[in-house]
Amino acid sequence: MLTIAQQAAAARAFVRDRLAEAGTVLDDVLERRMDAHFERLYRHFTDVYGDRADCLEQLAAVVATAARAAAERSPDLRRLDAVREADPAWYLDHRMLGGVCYVDRYAGDLKGLRARIPYFRELGLTYLHLMPLFAAPAGDSDGGYAVSSYREVDPGLGTTAQLRDLAADLRAAGISLVVDFVFNHTSDEHEWALGAVAGDPRYEGFYRIHPDRTIPDLYERTTREVFPDDYPGSFVQLPDGRWIWSTFHRFQWDLNYANPAVFEAMAGEMLFLANVGVEVLRLDAAAFIWKELGTDCENRPEAHALIRAFNAVLAIAAPAVVFKSEAIVHPDRVAEYIDVDECRLSYNPLQMALIWDALATRDARLLSQALERRHATAPGTAWVNYVRSHDDIGWTFADEDAAELGIDGFEHRRFLNAFYVDRFPGSFARGVPFQENPRTGDARVSGTTASLAGVEAGDPHGVARVLLAHGVAMSTGGIPLLYLGDEVGQLNDHSYLAVPEHASDSRWVHRPAFPAARYAERDDPGTDAGAVFAGLRRLIAVRRSIPELAGGALVGFETHDPHVLGYQRPGVERTVLVLANLSDGPRVVAAERFAALPETAQELLTEAEVHLREGLVLPPLGFVWLRVQRAADGS
Ligand code: GLC
Ligand code: GLC
Repeated sequence: MLTIAQQAAAARAFVRDRLAEAGTVLDDVLERRMDAHFERLYRHFTDVYGDRADCLEQLAAVVATAARAAAERSPDLRRLDAVREADPAWYLDHRMLGGVCYVDRYAGDLKGLRARIPYFRELGLTYLHLMPLFAAPAGDSDGGYAVSSYREVDPGLGTTAQLRDLAADLRAAGISLVVDFVFNHTSDEHEWALGAVAGDPRYEGFYRIHPDRTIPDLYERTTREVFPDDYPGSFVQLPDGRWIWSTFHRFQWDLNYANPAVFEAMAGEMLFLANVGVEVLRLDAAAFIWKELGTDCENRPEAHALIRAFNAVLAIAAPAVVFKSEAIVHPDRVAEYIDVDECRLSYNPLQMALIWDALATRDARLLSQALERRHATAPGTAWVNYVRSHDDIGWTFADEDAAELGIDGFEHRRFLNAFYVDRFPGSFARGVPFQENPRTGDARVSGTTASLAGVEAGDPHGVARVLLAHGVAMSTGGIPLLYLGDEVGQLNDHSYLAVPEHASDSRWVHRPAFPAARYAERDDPGTDAGAVFAGLRRLIAVRRSIPELAGGALVGFETHDPHVLGYQRPGVERTVLVLANLSDGPRVVAAERFAALPETAQELLTEAEVHLREGLVLPPLGFVWLRVQRAADGS
């Protein structure tokens, strides 16, 4: 029995011969990266495709694709590769700050976006996620998540050459470009999809197509409906009567990763994006890429193997690029995508949801429990901590965690949904329901940060809630993310109801156009926009000066008060203690709570000296970042 290393060595020799036959010789740089990463590529590729007689042929095709892409990489990006290989954990820096926007809505087109680079610098962004900007069907394209070509920028936004230039300009400004790798599905207008409909056998094999309902019915016994408003089930019918897998909308057709040609083709598209100058690829809908009869077809082991294989391809051809996982699933499952060899970054949907839970209930216990229990990730990886995204808020906490605190998950989700769409007496929130499913009782919530936090309702603590939510996202580690426009407190925009292709998707309520009027008020602290902006600017500036906030190490802090959240971010000699009051009244943190700490601390946001022996009063929705010397024993 050969060891994995021996098998991989034999496979590498096979691949080398195949490449040589095609006239491809790897240069020293690639050979070195093959030394480092080929074995894991082999391992994960064979985990999925090892039973096929042509497995090594297929693997050789993947390596050929990687070699081609590596050869096409620009000198600038090769330099970046070298820099990142020398400093692979660059994204753990405490100065990292992300922004996210739609090119058309925020800036008209790529030219307009480029003109906003000075503002992004002023804000302190080091990472910019541009929402899907490639060719997509006219009308409804799920916000561009139905991709018709991974290589052509939507002509309404600009050209691929402009995107390449933009990436370079951003990089020169210290900002890494982030785009989606929508690898679970293509649009029904992608050339592969058109080929499949036309009966081209190569492209029929790219999707999961069934002649009748027999197999679809079996799968649908166990799959979940993501967009039940649009259509039930996981399959849609083609004009010729056949059924095609389609997890999301009818025009988004899932790729068939059981076919290694799909892996090879998507590796090519991925490396094309890398060569445009993208530095972080957001793995859209990562949980869904592998289907297995009798399961919910989410988070399958093969999905992980495939992402790991893609990761190895990237490490060989474009090592500057890292993956960010988008898996909005049970927290145990979210964690499984986070690994240096899989996704170095991951959205933190649990923390996001629990910030909103804590604001609604004025009770920090679920959030605090999550921070203590579910926050740690492997060395070299980080969370992307956000307050809200372009998607809805789903209550993805674990029922078993809630039960420990005496909370019934189902009932609590019902409460949160009612609270955030203003169907609960006294609610400060003005959200909109999303995908209410009467059959399952499931629902999610749409809304901008300011509208959900009470600013729209004129609640006296609205602005403070916006700041508190960002104060948590900016102090728990990893990369905090701003949904651009939220820094000036943009409100819900109901004009989507008049747009036929958006009217049935309430997520558009929180994807407004550039809120020019609010930006115009941003320097006037007497306005909501100005108050939010000033508060966030302060958080951003102070955070940049706190090395303890780098990475993700976090320890709990017992406040003995459900209204007050507490946690510490330990540095080498000092620790930063964060305390946040979720309630609408002032709270006192008693002196005893600080008994183990030195007498004085520095409050970093106000630069005030705090005498801990006197206890601490937190105003309603107030929070502090206290820097304290660590005790000699390291506690
Ligand atoms: C991701 C996106 C979401 C989209 C879905 C299908 O979850 O965030 O906006 O609808 O994938 O691509
Ligand atoms: C589901 C999916 C997630 C997607 C979201 C869109 O939660 O798991 O991937 O972003 O729906 O609403």
